[in-house]
Amino acid sequence: MERVNSPFFILSLLLFCLSLAATHQINPDESALLAFKSLITSDPNNVLKNNWTAGTSVCTWIGVTCDSHHSRVTHLHLSKDLKGSIPPEIGNLSFLVSLDLSANSLHGPLPKDICRYNNLPRLKELVLTNNNLEGEIPISLGECPQLEILSLSSNHIGGHVPTQIGNITHLKELHLTFNNLRGIIPKEIGHLKKLESMQLTNNKLSGSIPREVGNMTALIDLSLDNNSLSGVIPHEIGHLDHLQSLIMGWNKLLGPLPSTMFNMSSLEQIELSSNTIGGALPSKIGSMNTVKYLYLENNALVGPLPPEIGNMKVLTELYLDNNSLVGVIPQEIGHLYCLELLSMSLNKLSGPLPPAIFKMKALTGLRLDNNALSGKIANLCRILFQ
Ligand SMILES: *[C@@H]1O[C@H](CO)[C@@H](O)[C@H](O)[C@H]1NC(C)=O
Ligand SMILES: *[C@@H]1O[C@H](CO)[C@@H](O)[C@H](O)[C@H]1NC(C)=O
Ligand SMILES: *[C@@H]1O[C@H](CO)[C@@H](O)[C@H](O)[C@H]1NC(C)=O
Ligand SMILES: *[C@@H]1O[C@H](CO)[C@@H](O)[C@H](O)[C@H]1NC(C)=O
Ligand SMILES: *[C@@H]1O[C@H](CO)[C@@H](O)[C@H](O)[C@H]1NC(C)=O
Ligand SMILES: *[C@@H]1O[C@H](CO)[C@@H](O)[C@H](O)[C@H]1NC(C)=O
Ligand SMILES: *[C@@H]1O[C@H](CO)[C@@H](O)[C@H](O)[C@H]1NC(C)=O
Repeated sequence: MERVNSPFFILSLLLFCLSLAATHQINPDESALLAFKSLITSDPNNVLKNNWTAGTSVCTWIGVTCDSHHSRVTHLHLSKDLKGSIPPEIGNLSFLVSLDLSANSLHGPLPKDICRYNNLPRLKELVLTNNNLEGEIPISLGECPQLEILSLSSNHIGGHVPTQIGNITHLKELHLTFNNLRGIIPKEIGHLKKLESMQLTNNKLSGSIPREVGNMTALIDLSLDNNSLSGVIPHEIGHLDHLQSLIMGWNKLLGPLPSTMFNMSSLEQIELSSNTIGGALPSKIGSMNTVKYLYLENNALVGPLPPEIGNMKVLTELYLDNNSLVGVIPQEIGHLYCLELLSMSLNKLSGPLPPAIFKMKALTGLRLDNNALSGKIANLCRILFQ
């Protein structure tokens, strides 16, 4: 009791409280943003130079949004042709929900500890598309607990896709197109049960597509085109009941097409051009009644066109050029009332053209050159475009 009441104790307590208050005065958001400003080497419209002034409230700065309760920075959105790099202090914006620095000329790596030590517990969007960022994807992104959108497309990011990507379990969009990523797609992506859009187009990814893609059951859009992926398309792909776009052209994928693919209930677009997909088109193709765009040119398909192809009720574009398809074109093709483009040059199709082809109301383009077709019309119209 005596100790507590001593003037010395009260003075100490007062000093302690004052020091706490003083610490509180230091605005970590302001120092983080000023650290960002200090690394900007070119600011063509003088946005930061004139507007981001020390001593004024960061909440009035261009590109900055704060929450009304705490006056802490929640959004930093700047697309102002800025040159420079991103400082580690960005991880001090501890209330940050959205960081969008797309369409600048930022270079250098992403801060490697960006989400370490639970730095950015609220971060939902990290959008850095269209810059010149280098280095690798920081593994600490696996520690961003709320991250839903990760867009690093159109940069020069190299290295591998880290296995820790599988820890970002709230992720809905993973956009890493047009970078220099190498190595395999890690099987840990299968943990991303909420992922709706995965775009890895135009990288140098190799190895096979992991079976675990079949676990990403929320996927709507899967774009893996223009990499060096090999092996067969895993049959687990058939679990993706929400998948609308399956884009895997310009790889080294082998056939045949997995039989499960013909059962997928939402598929609208299949792009598998320029691979080594082999085997014959099965009669089950007729059960694909949601597919509008089917691109299978420059592959190794063999055998005849199954008549069931006429059951693909919404098929709008069909490209099968440069395969080894044989036999006659089935007259059922005339049932494709939505078909606008039919392109099957460079095959070994034979026999006469079914007359039904010329009654197809929607057809605007027909390409059948370099086959073994016979009959007057075929001779007259080796290539026919409207
Ligand atoms: C920065 O720009 C905003 C919006 O135009 C303005 O409200 C604010 O006063 C400016 N701050 C300074 C220091 O110029
Ligand atoms: C800000 O970030 C830097 C670098 O990550 C760190 O060293 C520093 O302690 C942080 N400062 C505050 C006030 O959080
Ligand atoms: C993060 O991912 C790694 C590799 O997949 C895993 O070993 C680790 O347990 C994960 N950490 C957390 C916190 O989930
Ligand atoms: C594939 O990527 C390369 C660069 O990696 C690019 O030059 C080429 O145009 C791309 N091809 C397609 C079809 O997108
Ligand atoms: C994930 O995929 C693998 C391989 O397809 C499978 O064995 C496993 O059961 C799946 N896990 C979950 C949780 O769905
Ligand atoms: C496709 O669906 C049918 C009917 O729902 C089912 O009997 C068949 O086993 C499925 N096939 C594949 C390959 O998943
Ligand atoms: C036909 O496809 C093969 C294999 O994809 C490719 O190498 C070749 O260049 C293609 N030919 C034409 C004329 O497009």
